[in-house]
Amino acid sequence: MLPTVDEAMNELKCAEKLNPGPWVAHSMNVGLAARNIAEKLQGVNPEKAYILGLLHDIGRRVGIVSIPTHVFEGYKYCMEKGWNEAARICMTHSYIGMLDWFDYEPESLEEKEIKKFIMNCGEADDYDRLVQLCDSLATDYGFVILEKRFVDVIRRYGIMENYIKGWDLAFKIKEAFEARMGCSIYDVLPDIGRTTLLCPPSWKPPAK
Ligand SMILES: [Fe+2]
Repeated sequence: MLPTVDEAMNELKCAEKLNPGPWVAHSMNVGLAARNIAEKLQGVNPEKAYILGLLHDIGRRVGIVSIPTHVFEGYKYCMEKGWNEAARICMTHSYIGMLDWFDYEPESLEEKEIKKFIMNCGEADDYDRLVQLCDSLATDYGFVILEKRFVDVIRRYGIMENYIKGWDLAFKIKEAFEARMGCSIYDVLPDIGRTTLLCPPSWKPPAK
């Protein structure tokens, strides 16, 4: 089950009032990237890809929170609404390595729940892979090449052990989609050549 595009957009607008920030424009661009790539992929529904991209970070509605918290909050919120397909993407989008990312026993309740979900959800499907990839192609100011986004994330959060493996997986997903699309993913992301070269100052929360 999924909301319509209009309902998903409305969710983002409501969430932006609760927790304003660049994550909302980023989510809209993830949706557009997923839709545009899906249009070239046989067996993938572009509208569904769009809606899943729009809602992947909806857990951020609760505030500025950690990766596991926004993942699990998004899952719970979508399940309450009956949107199980969007709930799945909330869970899988931050774990491009799927179960390989969980070679440890998590301590927090949220991470335990995420691990349990990923253990039981089967292989990543085209929609999981699309949103995992598009999360690294979309900023709040437009689309960028993967290399740019990877460096931006490291400058903001520092480097973590799994990052390099995650980059490699993202490139593999890109190459697999491109083989099916018959073109580069960058061919379907409008204005990416210009926006990749932009370096806007990073967003700061409004002073209270
Ligand atoms: Fe995201």
